[in-house]
Amino acid sequence: EPILKDRKIAIIGSGLIGMSWSMIFASAGYKVVIFDIVQSQIDNALKQIECQLKSLEERGLLRGKLTAKQQYSCISGCTDIKEAVTGAFFMQECVPENIELKKKLYKQLDEIVDDKIIISSSTSTFMPSIFSDDMKHRAQVLVSHPVNPPYYVPLVEIVPSKHTRKDIPTITRALMTEVGQKPVVLSREIEGFALNRIQYAILNECWRLIADGILDVKDIDSVMSDGLGMRYAFLGPMETAHLNAEGFLSYCDRYSKTIYAVSETMGPVPKMEGPVMEQVAKELEQMCPLEDLEKRRKWRDTCLTELSKMKKELND
Ligand code: NAI
Repeated sequence: EPILKDRKIAIIGSGLIGMSWSMIFASAGYKVVIFDIVQSQIDNALKQIECQLKSLEERGLLRGKLTAKQQYSCISGCTDIKEAVTGAFFMQECVPENIELKKKLYKQLDEIVDDKIIISSSTSTFMPSIFSDDMKHRAQVLVSHPVNPPYYVPLVEIVPSKHTRKDIPTITRALMTEVGQKPVVLSREIEGFALNRIQYAILNECWRLIADGILDVKDIDSVMSDGLGMRYAFLGPMETAHLNAEGFLSYCDRYSKTIYAVSETMGPVPKMEGPVMEQVAKELEQMCPLEDLEKRRKWRDTCLTELSKMKKELND
């Protein structure tokens, strides 16, 4: 079987997402080299990673079979981009979501990479063709879009452009699986990939229900967190349908006409602006004042940690 253990992975950009990828790849023993344009950012990232690995180990949440110390020893920093990517079979780009910045970086990478390295972007919004079309090495480029926080939310959307060589998504999927993520591979690039298209469909209908005065913000969120979300933490909507009748054909037989009729009453795509936006913001700030956002994020991450532990136990 693969893989790849002593092999080197370059991380370009050591912010929130770059640090997470570093920890994920190191958990499987890969040699991770982190590049950033700011030396102090690299030092800071290494410190934070060391600290996080120790804390994960203490709480029994460390991924992989190696100790925190062993994992940390797999990771190093580097301020020379050429040195960072040389000899790496895979690189994960994690620079800020700014298309001009990304285009410039990919142009630079085009001049220094070999014909083998897989060039994978963490971008959450740009289709790979947007920054790779003009590259000599465009056949090696694809998107691997993680979900925040990637250490606990395993999904990775792998998105090839029409130029991506056929074996590149396959190898990327094997790598992601090996390090414990859950990759899905899109057959082609599409705006919003899959996760955000689904997320936006949900947001749009929540918006319409609020705008029409059917439910307030708190109750809309309860529909997800106390209803649909309870299932969606471990079952997708398709299998949910399969289980909600005597199989999917019986589900369609029973419900497809109703689903179509209700869906036809859904309004047009809303613009998230104006008085409804003000109203939603006001209600959300009553539920969680802006000065409490950080506290609430910590609470969210604790919940996700517990959920991912529970999912592991149920699946093992
Ligand atoms: P961040 O702002 O936390 O980190 C970006 C890092 O890139 C900084 O350390 C910065 O110094 C460095 N950087 C800037 N220019 C650079 C260059 N030319 N070369 C190397 N490093 C450079 O950003 P974050 O949140 O980690 O996002 C990174 C990517 O991940 C973005 O494309 C974003 O869309 C994607 N992403 C972010 C998610 C999130 O929730 N934060 C979720 C999924 C994807």
